[in-house]
Amino acid sequence: MKALVYGGPGIRTWTDVPDPILEEPTDVIVRIDSSTICGTDLHILKGDVPEVKPGTILGHEAVGTIVECGEAVTTLAVGDRVLVSCITSCGRCRFCREGRYGQCTGGGGWIFGHLINGLQAEYARVPFAETSVYKVPDELSDEDVLFLADILPTAYEVGVLAAKLEPGDTIAVVGAGPIGLATIMTAKLFTPARIVAIDLADSRLEQALGFGAEVTVNNGREDAVAKVLELTDGLGADVAVEAVGVPETFELCTALVRPGGRVANVGVHGHAATLHLETLWIRDVTITTGLVDTFTTPKLLRLIEEHRLEPRRFATHRFALADAEKAYDVFADAAHSQALKVVLDAEPVQAKRAAGREVAIA
Ligand SMILES: NC(=O)c1ccc[n+]([C@@H]2O[C@H](COP(=O)([O-])OP(=O)(O)OC[C@H]3O[C@@H](n4cnc5c(N)ncnc54)[C@H](O)[C@@H]3O)[C@@H](O)[C@H]2O)c1
Ligand SMILES: [Zn+2]
Ligand SMILES: [Zn+2]
Repeated sequence: MKALVYGGPGIRTWTDVPDPILEEPTDVIVRIDSSTICGTDLHILKGDVPEVKPGTILGHEAVGTIVECGEAVTTLAVGDRVLVSCITSCGRCRFCREGRYGQCTGGGGWIFGHLINGLQAEYARVPFAETSVYKVPDELSDEDVLFLADILPTAYEVGVLAAKLEPGDTIAVVGAGPIGLATIMTAKLFTPARIVAIDLADSRLEQALGFGAEVTVNNGREDAVAKVLELTDGLGADVAVEAVGVPETFELCTALVRPGGRVANVGVHGHAATLHLETLWIRDVTITTGLVDTFTTPKLLRLIEEHRLEPRRFATHRFALADAEKAYDVFADAAHSQALKVVLDAEPVQAKRAAGREVAIA
């Protein structure tokens, strides 16, 4: 088969690799129908994630069809269309028993395109399949559910839920990339009084308005703290979500939150940030961190089924899976391409789309 293989920093190649085979009785083999690229894949290509060894197939988000089941698999069958999520759950360890699948110590957690071969490929081996994949309802297309593989549960769990957002709150979202925009989309489920999006890029702020932000602040030109204080009678935001991953934006979040407010860090940080305890200690501020667990995926899936969430709008570009290299170029150049999520479709899906037979809700 063919797959996108990491060859060391800066190198990724669509090339021939051996077909995956069942290794454990709990595995299934999935034919990948749709996949997508994450900001974290770009981190890997920069060499920021050294656990990813050259030769690893990249990708941790996909929808596919089961073509082979291990002998211990009884609740899934060949032909089932499934969402393959960025997080795998062994189903047995202490953390999986608590729904904290991201912290799985039994061989799961974030493994695709990280510790084992990933999903930007024609086929993939999916470990612990029964406790890790989600069957896709017939009436939903691959693209309806694809973004449940990572950005939606990440934004909802590590941003909105961790921050304990409540109706009537003012929420400031710092960073309006896919994660920040997914935070805005899922924050709306709680009817906040006001959503403030903060970013350096005007094009991203424009997207934020489309996703439901009421106020935008370009913190390259404007003082974001002053703007948020002005909007909140000098108090600050009830909730601030960090969706960038650099020290400045974490510190900005702690500065623009009100006394008693909550800061939820979602960004992946490569450098130390300063925790200003000299100003924070007296302000009753709560700060949370987290890796996504994906325990909310079934709930988010129901919201998509009922048209309460319309995540297809994240898909700004589509490529054939075989054009994955080109897709990476477009995704990595978001400043010019305006890319949010780039969808990689395998040939049968592409043919179906061309024939207008794809089931769509929008
Ligand atoms: N915690 C988790 O489980 C988890 C899961 C997935 C992704 N992430 C992380 O979430 C973060 C956001 O992901 P993404 O895909 O949306 O990234 P992205 O790079 O597409 O978006 C980041 C946005 O931040 C803006 N930005 C950059 N510097 C800024 C600054 N100083 N002030 C304001 N805005 C600034 C950029 O213009 C961009 O719009 C990344 O760090 C990613 O690795 C975390
Ligand atoms: Zn990801
Ligand atoms: Zn586990």
